[in-house]
Parts: sequence; structure tokens; C-alpha cells
Amino acid sequence: MSTSSVYQLASVDQKLCLTLKNQIGFKPFYIDFYDYLQGSTLGEGGRRLLYKAVKLKGDANPHIIDANGGWARDAFFLAQQGFTVTVIERVEVIFKLLTDARERALAHPELQEIMARMSFIHGDAREFLQQEIHSKVIYLDPMFPARIKSAKVKKDLQILQSLAETSIDDPNELFFLARQKAAERVIVKRPLNAPFLAEVKPDFQYLGKTVRFDVYAALTSK
Ligand SMILES: C[S@@+](CC[C@H](N)C(=O)[O-])C[C@H]1O[C@@H](n2cnc3c(N)ncnc32)[C@H](O)[C@@H]1O
Repeated sequence: MSTSSVYQLASVDQKLCLTLKNQIGFKPFYIDFYDYLQGSTLGEGGRRLLYKAVKLKGDANPHIIDANGGWARDAFFLAQQGFTVTVIERVEVIFKLLTDARERALAHPELQEIMARMSFIHGDAREFLQQEIHSKVIYLDPMFPARIKSAKVKKDLQILQSLAETSIDDPNELFFLARQKAAERVIVKRPLNAPFLAEVKPDFQYLGKTVRFDVYAALTSK
């Protein structure tokens, strides 16, 4: 049985949720951007580093393509900081959960401004990047296989991991394409001790306690 076939989508309390088939005790999983609002401050640590990594001199709020949407936690944080973000996610179930969360968020006065800066695209970012794009920054957060082995892996990351592994991942291909297309830079989130994506050394890095952001100047700007 594939991992995706153990999950199913169901409407619970007017929210689109992921539930486990034939399993009692699994709390329905859904995305709630209002929860993100509570926990998503600039603070110290990883988020502050992401903010530094995307901020460009002379352009306070560049448009960002987040080509590895997932649960859009990072994208929400960036939109909250004033960036306009296009979120691309290729797994349909994840995209449906994102879309449902967006609908609910639009009805929430505190979230409307942030949601207006976020757009969501269902599809493979590699196809999207074949088009002519006008984005200075492309952000990548590819699945890292080691994460699943960690006992500390949170439930949402575990679900993401099992859903995302249903399709063939080719983060290297996406990375090379992103470097050709971003006008200014490509940022790659990695676990702190992970090897460089595609074995390409970044131009500079922001190191956190558990994650790091590898920053690559776009090939077009070199
Ligand atoms: C580690 S998660 C990203 C988590 C995200 N940064 C967040 O804050 O929730 C990686 C996501 O990228 C998606 N993905 C992988 N390759 C993709 C591609 N070529 N196009 C679009 N989405 C892709 C996976 O389905 C998965 O949901």
C-alpha cells in the first residue's frame, strides 16, 4: 500500500482535513493560517535567518517564488514580513489543504492583508519555471530524507514526508532551473549538517542551530 493511500480527505467542522483510513485516534490534520500567525514572529533563530537571506539591498520586498510549498509555513512567514510570495506545490492533497486554509483565512480580518500577498499554484515547479518568470528570489526547501529518522520529527512533517514521497523528487533539477531563472538569488534551506544541494557550494550561508540557508547568486547576475 502506498503511503498516500492510507490518508483520505474529509470535511470535519467545516475544514478540509486529512484523516487516516480505518484508524481511530488520529486527530484530523488541517492547515490553519491563524495558528501560523500566533507562532510566526521574526524572533531569533531560523526565521530571522530566512528573512535576512531573502532581503535584497535596494529592494525591501522582492517577489519570491517558493517552489517547495509544503504546508506553506515559510511562505506565510515571508508574506507576513511584507514579501509577495507565489507558492508552488505539486502534491494535490497538500494543495487542496492549502486552498481550503486560504479560503478560511480570507474571512479572517487579521489575515486578509497577508493572504493578499500569497498566491498558490498547483503543479510541478520545474514546469512552472520553464515559463518566462519575473522573480528576483526563488526559495527552495526540498525534503531531506534524514528528517524522517529523527524521533523529534513533528506530526505535520511526518505527514508531509509521507505524502511528498509519492512523487519522484528531483530537487537538483529544480535547483539548476531555479538558478537560471531567478534574477538575483536562490535560497536553499538545509539541515545544518546536510551536504550542499547538488553538491554546489553556495556563495554565502546563514547558519542556525539546526538549519541553514544556502544563498546562491543567480547565474544571470554573475
Ligand atoms: C520540506 S517541504 C516544504 C515545507 C515548506 N517550506 C513549509 O514551510 O511548510 C517540500 C515540499 O516541496 C514539494 N515539492 C517537491 N518537489 C516539487 C516540485 N518540483 N514542484 C512543486 N512542489 C514540489 C513537496 O511535495 C513538499 O510538499
